[in-house]
This record gives sequence, structure tokens and C-alpha cells, in this order.
Amino acid sequence: MTSRRIPAAADPVRPGPDRPLTIWVDGEPVTGTAGQTIAGVLLGAGRRQWRSTGQSGAPRGVFCGIGVCFDCVVEVNGLRDVRACLRRAQDGDVVAPQGGPFGEPGAGRSDEHDGPEVAR
Ligand code: FES
Repeated sequence: MTSRRIPAAADPVRPGPDRPLTIWVDGEPVTGTAGQTIAGVLLGAGRRQWRSTGQSGAPRGVFCGIGVCFDCVVEVNGLRDVRACLRRAQDGDVVAPQGGPFGEPGAGRSDEHDGPEVAR
């Protein structure tokens, strides 16, 4: 490992130009960059909390950031219990704060998922 910086032209990752995207949160457009998670877009827009707990109403947003705690769950395009820290934002996604308890029966958690929501 070296402390020298690699010139951009020699970077083997060859990152492309940023591609902006827009997601809709509570009916408002929020812009981000392709490759960001929904949580990344929300945090980048200055939103630190987007739901509250069912019992105490305590605010929640990102806690672990790695898909373990489920504090960041949101509803995306009508699908509940999506972990915002794992789901990569897609242009035009409609994100809504999730009301009610996590995994509410009949809300589509395990019945409509093929597995855990993972970043694409
Ligand atoms: S922040 Fe913990 S699962 Fe998303």
C-alpha cells in the first residue's frame, strides 16, 4: 500500500461521470446520484429521520447503515419494510415514511418479498 494518490486517468476503477437521479419523498423531489442508497440520498438532502417508532414515536433514520437494525425502513413504490440503507435508489422511486409497526401483518413483508432487499 502506498500513500501516493493515483492520477484519475490511471484509476483502475474508472469512475464515470455522476448521473443525477430524483426520488420522490412525501410528494417532493429529492435529488441524488446514481449508485447512492435511498438513505444516502435522504441524508445528502439533510434528512436525518424519516420514520418514528410505533410505540413511543421516537424518531428513526440510519443507525447501523449495514442492514442489521431495520431502523431505516421505508415504503418504496408501495412496498413496505425496505431498508433504506441497502436499497439503491432508482430514478423516480416513490419513498414514503412507513407508518405502523415493522412487519405489520398483511403489509407485504414476507409474503411479497423473495428475500431480503439488497442493494443492486
Ligand atoms: S440503518 Fe440499520 S438496517 Fe438500515
